Amino acid sequence: MEKARPSTRFVRALKGERASPPPIWMMRQAGRYLPEYREIRSQAAGFLDFCYTPKLASEATLQPIRRFGFDAAILFSDILVIPDALGQGVRFEEGVGPRLDPLPLDRVSDLDRSRLADHLAPVYEAIERTRAALPDETSLIGFAGAPWTLATYMVAGRTSPDQAPTRRAAFGDPVRFDRLIDLLADAVAQHLVAQIDAGCDALQIFDSWAGALDTLAFPRWSEKPIARIVAMVRDKRPGVPIIVFPRNAGDRLLDFAAKVRPDAVGLDWSVGFETGRRLQKAACVQGNLDPMRLVAGGPALAEGVDTILEAFRDGPFVFNLGHGIVPETPIAHVEEMVRRVRRGIE
Ligand code: CP3
Repeated sequence: MEKARPSTRFVRALKGERASPPPIWMMRQAGRYLPEYREIRSQAAGFLDFCYTPKLASEATLQPIRRFGFDAAILFSDILVIPDALGQGVRFEEGVGPRLDPLPLDRVSDLDRSRLADHLAPVYEAIERTRAALPDETSLIGFAGAPWTLATYMVAGRTSPDQAPTRRAAFGDPVRFDRLIDLLADAVAQHLVAQIDAGCDALQIFDSWAGALDTLAFPRWSEKPIARIVAMVRDKRPGVPIIVFPRNAGDRLLDFAAKVRPDAVGLDWSVGFETGRRLQKAACVQGNLDPMRLVAGGPALAEGVDTILEAFRDGPFVFNLGHGIVPETPIAHVEEMVRRVRRGIE
């Protein structure tokens, strides 16, 4: 199964090598800010059909690489393909976002992991196609949502900034909630291993709602399940670098990194440079430009980019945003950001 994978600047940075200029890619780099994305998006009936059509998903993955020459491509898919594959209905409503049929915790045993591989076969086919079409120097990132973040969508059926419905349900029935988290950790590990086997060169685990958990719940429902996933994937496919992105983990980030031991830690834009530099002693860091600086452009963008480059120049680092690019971002600002990062600092 192990194919020889080309060593890229991106993979070497994740493994701890310092590079100037640093490798660069953007979270949500395939998406609605690109006219060529909007064009092919209209060819699929719904968003999930788009994700499950290998030709279209592969094309969407390649679009930002052709335009900007990023060091890494991220598979065009979604974290919610896992609940969908487990049999929970997932719909994407235009202008509203994802909607699921809320999962009561006494129905966790209805979820069926046996269908995962078959259901997600088109995703793996999209990876094979994409890896074959990408230049050797461009890495392909596979990804999944972390169990807690997936559970917030599954239990509440939708997202909310504080995740109150899922916190309430989890504290009300922590034993059943543990079961859901465990089942999701197994499903996520399986999906990540399958993405490696299909041709991904690195992985990212998104815990987008980690910041909603309190100090007692954070180790139980964010840190431990992610640590277990990282260990399971490493055990099965050693050597493939893993990035974790526990968004808004705040002052728990250092402890999280010490427990999970990922190859790289994704930083949201609130993470202080001192914390980031401490993380760099044991891991690569990735981040953390505020996507609104990219929307604004001009001096806000220039000083944001320069400050981050300067802050992380002495350790392993991958330039990225602190969260996903938003649809109203001007393409010219992305071009300017790439130019500025690649020009480096003296
Ligand atoms: O380019 C890439 O980054 C790869 C593709 C990707 C998508 N979603 C495509 C997408 C990735 C990595 C994701 C991850 C994802 N999806 C996360 C974790 C990262 C984060 O943003 O915190 C989450 C929480 C989701 C769930 C999700 N999917 C939401 C909340 C939404 C609606 C929000 C929105 O921007 O509309 C989606 C839809 C979605 N996923 C779109 C894209 C390009 C937009 C839908 C469309 O094009 O119609």
